[in-house]
Parts: sequence; structure tokens; C-alpha cells
Amino acid sequence: MKVVTVGNHKGGVGKSTLACNIAVEATKEGRKVLLIDADTQKSSMDFRGLRAEVDVPQFNAVAVTNPTIHKDIASFNAFDLVIIDAGGRDTGPFRSALLASDLLVIPALPSQLDIWSTENTVTLLEEARTFKEINACFVANRVIPNSNIAKEAYQALIDIGILLLNTKIHSRVAFAYSISEGKGVTEYEPHGKAAQEMREFYKEVKSWL
Ligand SMILES: Nc1ncnc2c1ncn2[C@@H]1O[C@H](COP(=O)(O)OP(=O)(O)OP(=O)(O)O)[C@@H](O)[C@H]1O
Ligand SMILES: [Mg+2]
Repeated sequence: MKVVTVGNHKGGVGKSTLACNIAVEATKEGRKVLLIDADTQKSSMDFRGLRAEVDVPQFNAVAVTNPTIHKDIASFNAFDLVIIDAGGRDTGPFRSALLASDLLVIPALPSQLDIWSTENTVTLLEEARTFKEINACFVANRVIPNSNIAKEAYQALIDIGILLLNTKIHSRVAFAYSISEGKGVTEYEPHGKAAQEMREFYKEVKSWL
């Protein structure tokens, strides 16, 4: 069993969107997937509920919003991949998710301000790393098509010392529309650009596990 947390304290950066899409990609590959929603907003649980009504391969999901994920994780070992949607305002479940994780994926919007605002997230990662080896990477999300990530933002990432994935996920309506239909982007528009980015992103995530 491998555990991936998609987390960032900053709101609206795409944690739930990416966590749900990783769950879809891994399920399509035939992996036994559990999505843990550690955010009280329960967006991932809502997605799971919508998806149950659609004729697509299903995965399991549970909501765990108390700081016991690292203690409970062993009981989920029948799954190949556990994905945790974490990092809302409450640091308890996020710390706990980190202690359960092999990899932390930090979605960040491609502006310097947004990257600076990941400071809390990185501090908690460093704390957790004193107990456990945890890989971590940034992924730029909602990048405006035909724009580059600001040079200063790149530098800010380099200064933090956490690798930025090669895949840039652009701002595309397919990410929002697909979620509201209970589908991943590769199911919603298999030949679209969003789907292509998701496949590349998932491939990179897998290479870290
Ligand atoms: N690449 C993208 N292109 C277009 N829209 C996106 C993209 N990623 C996320 N969104 C949209 O941005 C909004 C925030 O995304 P999401 O809910 O996944 O973020 P979050 O980090 O989980 O937010 P929260 O902190 O509220 O849990 C949603 O409306 C989602 O549809
Ligand atoms: Mg969310």
C-alpha cells in the first residue's frame, strides 16, 4: 500500500480536483483505491457520491477529519493506493495525514504570493520528516494557458527546496465540468488537453511511489 497526500493550507488550489483525478487514474489502471477526505468541506466525498451514479469504474472513499489517520492507516492495507485530500485550515488531520504518507503533492497556483503562502504547509512537512521519510513535490495548477510561471515564483520554489513537477496543469474548464459529473478529466474528455495533462501528472506521481 502506498499513501499520497494532496495538501496545501491555502484554499482553492486544486487539492480536491487533483486528489479525485489521481483516484480515477489509479482506478482505471485496476488498482484498489481508497480516497480519504480529511477536509471538513467533504468535496472528495461529494465527488464519490456523484460518481456512484455514473457508469465508470468505482473506488472507495471515507471521510476522516480527526487526527487519527496515521493510526488508522494500517487497517486500510487491503488497498493498493490511498489518496488523502488534506490541508484545510485545521492542521490536526493534515499532520496526521503526513505521518501516514509516502508522498505529499502540494498544488500551488503559479504566483509568487501563492508559493509564499505554502510556508505553513512546508513547515508541517519538515516537522513530519523528523519522524518519517516523506517525499514531496509541488505541482503548478491553474496555470493560465500560453503564460509561463513567473520567474520569481520559480525562484521561490527553488529556495524552498522541494521539486516542482514537470507537468503544468493549466486552467481548463474541463477540470471543473468533469468533477460536477462525477468523472475524471480523462473520462470526461479523453482526447482533450486537460486529459493529456492529467495523464502526464499521474505518470509523474507514480514515479515517486
Ligand atoms: N486546473 C484547473 N482548471 C480550472 N479550474 C480548476 C482547476 N483546478 C481546480 N479548479 C477549480 O478551482 C476551484 C478550487 O479547486 P478545488 O476545490 O479542487 O481546490 P481545493 O484546494 O480543494 O479547495 P479547498 O481549499 O476549498 O478545499 C474549483 O472550482 C475547481 O473546479
Ligand atoms: Mg478541497
